Amino acid sequence: MNIAIFVSGNGSNLQALMEAAAEDTLGGGKIVLVVSDKSEAFALERAKKAGLRTFVSETDPSLPREENDKAILSRLKEDKVDLVVLAGFMRILSDLFVDEYKGRILNIHPSLLPSFKGVHGIKDAFDQGVKATGVTVHFVERELDSGPIILQSPVFIEEDDTLETLEEKIHKEEHKIYPEAVRLFVCGKLKAAGNKVRILK
Ligand code: GRF
Repeated sequence: MNIAIFVSGNGSNLQALMEAAAEDTLGGGKIVLVVSDKSEAFALERAKKAGLRTFVSETDPSLPREENDKAILSRLKEDKVDLVVLAGFMRILSDLFVDEYKGRILNIHPSLLPSFKGVHGIKDAFDQGVKATGVTVHFVERELDSGPIILQSPVFIEEDDTLETLEEKIHKEEHKIYPEAVRLFVCGKLKAAGNKVRILK
């Protein structure tokens, strides 16, 4: 199964996924392309270092979303991409894109959804004073940070945690569960029915 990973920034999740692929723990899934909407994303350096092909699609704000996505879609077609894995990709995908890859787009979010949606999931949970937050991997649907939940992992907030230590704990957890979620998808172990995802044994 051919996988494209979408990034915009640091790329630590991309790194975890590339390492899993190298260790052959992605169930045979192959990362064939790394897509970024930011040419300066550090994630692109990581991809190139690992010898992966990259594709940059800077957002043109004067164009509607689907026009921005068309170039990516045709590149995905060229590379015969089966699965899209969003790993810190900050551009909101158009309905056109989501419909084209329906059921084949995964995202990771740094909170226990549906709590703390949006771009500041870690800080919002920290500021709210919750005792537990965590990480969610879910299928992507048209509505942001929604879609059937595949895996979640809790992260506890201790009294001596700072925003920085919490971020570290969250990222560590992400790097564990994202490769596992991708492996489950690649192995055909995920069965979505409505809101619920069953994980087959
Ligand atoms: C992660 O916290 C992920 O949950 C969120 O964006 C961040 C990306 O981090 N969607 P990185 O670029 O993978 O280091």
